[in-house]
Formats: sequence, C-alpha cells, structure tokens
Amino acid sequence: METTDKTKSTITSFAADVKEGLTAKNKHLSSKYFYDDNGSRIFMQIMKMPEYYPTDCEFEILSQQSGDILDKLPYKGKFNIVEFGSGDGMKTKQLLGTFMDMGAHFIYMPIDISQEAIDALEKNIIEALPNITMQPKTGDYFEVLDELTKSSTPNLFLFLGGNIGNYPHDEATDLLKKFNAGMKKGDMLLMGMDLKKNPRVIQKAYDDPHGITKAFNMNLLSRINEELDADIKLDQFDFYSNYSPKNGQVNSFLISLKKQTVYSKVLDTAFYFERDELIWTELSKKYSFDEINMLAEEVGFSVAHNFMDCKHYFTDSLWVK
Ligand code: AVI
Repeated sequence: METTDKTKSTITSFAADVKEGLTAKNKHLSSKYFYDDNGSRIFMQIMKMPEYYPTDCEFEILSQQSGDILDKLPYKGKFNIVEFGSGDGMKTKQLLGTFMDMGAHFIYMPIDISQEAIDALEKNIIEALPNITMQPKTGDYFEVLDELTKSSTPNLFLFLGGNIGNYPHDEATDLLKKFNAGMKKGDMLLMGMDLKKNPRVIQKAYDDPHGITKAFNMNLLSRINEELDADIKLDQFDFYSNYSPKNGQVNSFLISLKKQTVYSKVLDTAFYFERDELIWTELSKKYSFDEINMLAEEVGFSVAHNFMDCKHYFTDSLWVK
C-alpha cells in the first residue's frame, strides 16, 4: 500500500510520542494510539461486552429520545448535523432516522480523518436511510469547522460515545473551546458523557473478566513492536485498571512484570523498566451534573438539557453556544 502524507505524519507522531512517553519519569502512552485496525476491532468487542454499559445506554437514549432531542432544537428551516469521529454510525442512525421521520430538513456531515472510516459509514447510513442528504468530509475537525462558520445555516454538532472523557481536563477544555470557536451563536452540541454511578459497575466495565480490555491495552505494545521494530515480550507485561469514585477517573496502566530493557530499531532507543513500573495508558472520566455544568460554562456553552438512559448511567448532554 502506498503511504500517504497523512499516514506518514501519524507514524512520525506515534514514534515521537512513544519515545517521549517511555523515557518520561512517569511512563505514559496515549490512548489515542489504541485505534489501529486491530485496536478498532478489539474496541468493537468491548462495545459488545455486557459489562461495557456506555454503548447500550447511548443506543437506548438515541433510539428512544431523538424526537425529544429534535423538539429542543430551535431551528425552523434547514440545518446541518455535523458529527465528529462518527465510528460505524450505529447509534447516530437512530437519531437521523427519527429526525427524518419527523420531517426535519437537514444535511448530515460526518467528519473523520480516515477516508476508509468515512466510506464504510456512508455505505452503512445510505443502506438504512436511502433518502438522507449526506456530505461526508475527510480531514481535520477544525479545517471543516472553518468552512461551516462561513455559511449562515445553523449547526447541530454531535460528539458521541463519551470520547470527551478520554481527554485530561486541560485537553478537554482546549478541544471544546476550539469547537466553540468554530460555532455560531445558537449552534448546539450534543455530547455523550458517562456519569458517576456505583463504582462496582464502572470498575467491571474497564476491568472485564474476559480480558478484552487487557488485549485492547496490550495492542499498544504490539503496535510498538510492529511499527517501531521493537522487541517487547508481551508476556512480560500485565494490565491494571482502577476507578476512583473520589475523582471520577478510571485510570488504566500496563505493568512491567520484571526489570527489563526493550529496544526499538526505528527509534534506535533502548527503554528501561523497573519491576512493577507502570505505563499510564488511558483516562476515562465520569461526570456529575455539577461538573457537566461547570465544564460547559468554562468553555463558553450553557447546558440546555440532559438526555439520560433509564438507569441514569449516561447522558447525551445538549449544549448551546
Ligand atoms: C472511546 N472511549 C469513550 C472508551 C471509554 O470508555 O473510555 C474507550 C475504552 N477504554 C476501555 N474501554 C473502553
């Protein structure tokens, strides 16, 4: 396969981030690198696990309450539905179908950096909703946002799945401020956010008995072996994930099971691990309603409504600029 400039720059930032993360005092690797082809397949398995409740909760919200969501939108005429990082569209289909049944006049614009993901999504959506008007966009979120602010059509932005919880607070506020800057007054954002709840429910979702979340994390090490020509022995690492109800954070780690050195030919670097040394791999933040209100305010929005599943585990929070 021909390497595009985009792939090249991703490989370069992966390499640079791995080098920085594995030489840091507190070792870390970003969860944004979970999602290569294999990682995306493992994530699909996670979403099917009975312990991983967020997917089912959001599916329930969008299949049962999309009419109420449409009722909260002030748009009289045509509007755009702009989706960031749309995945396979399973959940979004519920919202789009209901909006169409209710006679809403909209153009659906999914944005993704991967052309392959956009092509698969387009096929999937058109099969289910052949009459939809769709303008998929491949590229960086913010380049696309720039184009949209130039038109007078109002926008509903979708950022579903609870992805915001994977950003540390400063990065989350940076991202949301950039969304805000690319929106017009009156534009709305519907964002999936996982809520604080019984800590045992959360703990089980991220430390599952099937070992699928462990495989999801270990895939990062396989990626380093393959893409950076490294010699990491996977059985010398374990996985640990912990939810703290005090701060609402699930933090996940890989653990080095012995004192060891691994070497990457691509980076021409050796990385040293002490026994039991941790590599922090993921944050998954759970929110209270107070935190949601504070976050919205901090980044220039106000909360119009929270749409929750029947167990109140998850919210699709509707914000207005
Ligand atoms: C994509 N993101 C919202 C997931 C989450 O729940 O934080 C990723 C995930 N990590 C482990 N399980 C699922």
